[in-house]
Amino acid sequence: MAREYPYADRLLEFYRASGRVLPWRGDKDPYHIWISEIMLQQTGVTSVCRYYERFLERFPTVARLAQADLQEVLGAWQGMGYYRRAQHLHRAAVIIQDGLKGQWPETLEGWLALPGIGRSTAGAIMAICWNRRHPILDGNCKRVLSRIMALNEPVNSSQATRMLWHWADLLTPPEQPGDYAQAIMDLGAVVCTLRDPKCNICPWQGGCRAFAESRVGEYPNRMKAKVRPRYGQQAILVQESTGAVLMRRRPEGGLLGGMWEPLSTPRQTPPQPPSDVVEMQDQLERHWQVHGCDMKRLGRVQHAFTHFHLTVWVYSCRYVSGWPQGAGEEICWWDAGHSDMPVSTLHAKVLAMAGQEVIN
Ligand code: ADE
Ligand code: SF4
Repeated sequence: MAREYPYADRLLEFYRASGRVLPWRGDKDPYHIWISEIMLQQTGVTSVCRYYERFLERFPTVARLAQADLQEVLGAWQGMGYYRRAQHLHRAAVIIQDGLKGQWPETLEGWLALPGIGRSTAGAIMAICWNRRHPILDGNCKRVLSRIMALNEPVNSSQATRMLWHWADLLTPPEQPGDYAQAIMDLGAVVCTLRDPKCNICPWQGGCRAFAESRVGEYPNRMKAKVRPRYGQQAILVQESTGAVLMRRRPEGGLLGGMWEPLSTPRQTPPQPPSDVVEMQDQLERHWQVHGCDMKRLGRVQHAFTHFHLTVWVYSCRYVSGWPQGAGEEICWWDAGHSDMPVSTLHAKVLAMAGQEVIN
């Protein structure tokens, strides 16, 4: 006897009636779906909608993406955060173009072998583009499943992860797995939200244990988050008379890899109180062999990264002479017109303090 999928049936009905209209919906082109799924990994739908079409205009095919310079790809990603995604995307494009002769992987394992692609993203791509029955399990799905099953294990524990994947697999129907994947993501994003879930309009209410027990608010159960350490740093905006700022390119591979930033001290923990301007002038000369004048403290910028909080004290000075010395670093003058030098959201905030507006 064929297995029945009452949850899937109800969810697909909800999706047909009130699924979101999004630029990649209805599309099965692996390039488009791959780009959208990578963007959606850590960026909300509203922002992704702003970036997605522009990205495809700039890189209409995987061949164009593979030929592009990493700088250009990071530039198209500027402001979206988690820039490693752009590096992985670029590397994967080169692999597809050169290693696979432009052929898309047509198996889960094939996708998993590409950089930046985990089981859930690979499953979503296989389901959406090839109509193959693969479960997905992103953060939204984990929340929904933890509620319908009243999962007491902390959702990020390895035991819970095993159970969640098992349930995700059991619920995924053989028919329309791609629609189902997008439908469960919509359910999590629109109905079964973290705060204030809308159980009264939920297609899964009848089968939801947390709802039946009036304990929706208790799920997902989480392990106590580790306290993120606090770091401090000083950034000096060394400016030419035109307003251009001396910037250095961060090494590829690390945090904000390949992005440009103003001259900055190493991070300190705990954060130090702001230095006085004479000391900063001194540092600039000692550390970078750059001479400036009119050193001013402009204020500070705070930014939360995944693993730590950072407070950046921002200084500015006028450039007099010298060129930053450092092991083979790329250094360049930057101004707001430079769209070919990608800048992170943190450093856009830092530059804004000196009246330099980064345009996304
Ligand atoms: N999150 C991840 N993938 C998604 C998709 N295809 N639609 C909506 N939200 C998503
Ligand atoms: Fe989520 Fe409420 Fe639906 Fe349960 S009934 S799945 S808690 S929205």
